[in-house]
Amino acid sequence: MPKSLQELIQKLHEIFQDNNVNVDEVQELMESYRSNPKDWKQYAMFDKLRYTRNLVDEGNGKFNLIILCWGEGQGSSIHDHSNSHCFMKMLQGELKETLFDWPEKEGGDMTERSNRTLENNSVAYINDKIGLHRVENASHTEGSVSLHLYSPPFQTCKVFDQRTSHTTEAKMTFWSKYGERTPFETTASKENN
Ligand code: SIN
Repeated sequence: MPKSLQELIQKLHEIFQDNNVNVDEVQELMESYRSNPKDWKQYAMFDKLRYTRNLVDEGNGKFNLIILCWGEGQGSSIHDHSNSHCFMKMLQGELKETLFDWPEKEGGDMTERSNRTLENNSVAYINDKIGLHRVENASHTEGSVSLHLYSPPFQTCKVFDQRTSHTTEAKMTFWSKYGERTPFETTASKENN
């Protein structure tokens, strides 16, 4: 069982030396790490306006490990995962995950398939075959922090308008990298929130 985030990262590097991702193995390993804010607080930067994505490790090119900070009421758009695996571990607070089916055609409402609340230390998994999701911090009093592993790493994803199913491409940006705030980009980009 990894005793720190650093140990978890080391074990993830070992697992991902193999080219085949064993979803259960990764999920169990991430679940076995007990969240300790001392390990990750240097990466946990919140913004008043939207959730932040903070890069922790680039997994030798095999995966990205990112800490997401969700202020009260902040959430993502409905989005896909660009053919990657997405593991999401709760480090603090709770998040609501709502699943959607891929829209059959543009123009109609997207129907919600199910939703659940992810509690501290639990690990959720999704990929494009399972469907699309929206993630949000429904709390009015507490910020949430989650640790996401994407393999392979991706730079853009599709976002969906719930009312019309209209799809656009969003760029995945980092609020910070390795604990350092990322310099502002001068070009306008559409982000996933
Ligand atoms: C997710 O898909 O797990 C959250 C959205 C993001 O990575 O920005």
